[in-house]
Amino acid sequence: MSSEDLSSDKTPAFDHFARDYDTAITKGLKFTGETKEYFAEKRALILSRNLSKLGHNPASILDFGCGTGTTTPLFRKHFSPCSISGTDPSEKSLEIAHTQHAGCTGISFIHTEEFTASSEFDLAYCNGVFHHIIPAQRQESIELIYKALTPGGYFSFWENNPWNPMTRFIMKRVPFDSDAILVWPRNARRNLARAGFRIISTSYAFIFPSALRAFRFLEPPLCKLPLGGQYHILCRKPDG
Ligand SMILES: C[S@@+](CC[C@H](N)C(=O)[O-])C[C@H]1O[C@@H](n2cnc3c(N)ncnc32)[C@H](O)[C@@H]1O
Repeated sequence: MSSEDLSSDKTPAFDHFARDYDTAITKGLKFTGETKEYFAEKRALILSRNLSKLGHNPASILDFGCGTGTTTPLFRKHFSPCSISGTDPSEKSLEIAHTQHAGCTGISFIHTEEFTASSEFDLAYCNGVFHHIIPAQRQESIELIYKALTPGGYFSFWENNPWNPMTRFIMKRVPFDSDAILVWPRNARRNLARAGFRIISTSYAFIFPSALRAFRFLEPPLCKLPLGGQYHILCRKPDG
């Protein structure tokens, strides 16, 4: 389907890509020599290390913009939550997520339009979603997440790094990123703070492609420099 067809179509964009999501993302990520699983695993690992330093072990996790539910098993691997809920506006993506996790207890997926959670989750996670939300609607989405968190709950916000030329190169080759408007870290921090979040840290990940993986030991000490393909803002809803 062409971008012209999509612009006149009211179906959520990701419904057109849900079945081919893996093929489309693999096409873009081939330039890094890694799979989407590599990136998802490393994000979960970085988050679990950050939260463990803060002494936070989430019991209920929200995956905002969960897509086909790629991260769900990783929440189980890195944390021991009682419940994991995903929300997304793409019905087709949610269908795939449901099918993949059918019969798993404590896992649920819900359409964003029906998502009304209030003070339910002690961790919210969101990867690669906000560049698909038009800038005028981003604050509303952040406020939805803020409301869904318990006081003292954490928000792990992951976005593609606009400073990184490889990120832009890859996004130009991924069909579902044709609508993307990259989110600058300073704007994300400002919007998060405006909703009430306290920013804990901003860090960058994924500097070296697979061909240069021998240098990946340098990624943690370089994480404060805006070099990596993605950035992570960890923030917290204040207590009480
Ligand atoms: C690149 S995919 C990322 C999916 C998943 N987070 C992951 O890491 O595999 C972007 C997702 O954002 C979802 N999305 C787009 N607009 C959204 C919105 N306003 N609220 C929540 N999710 C949204 C899309 O439907 C899509 O599933």
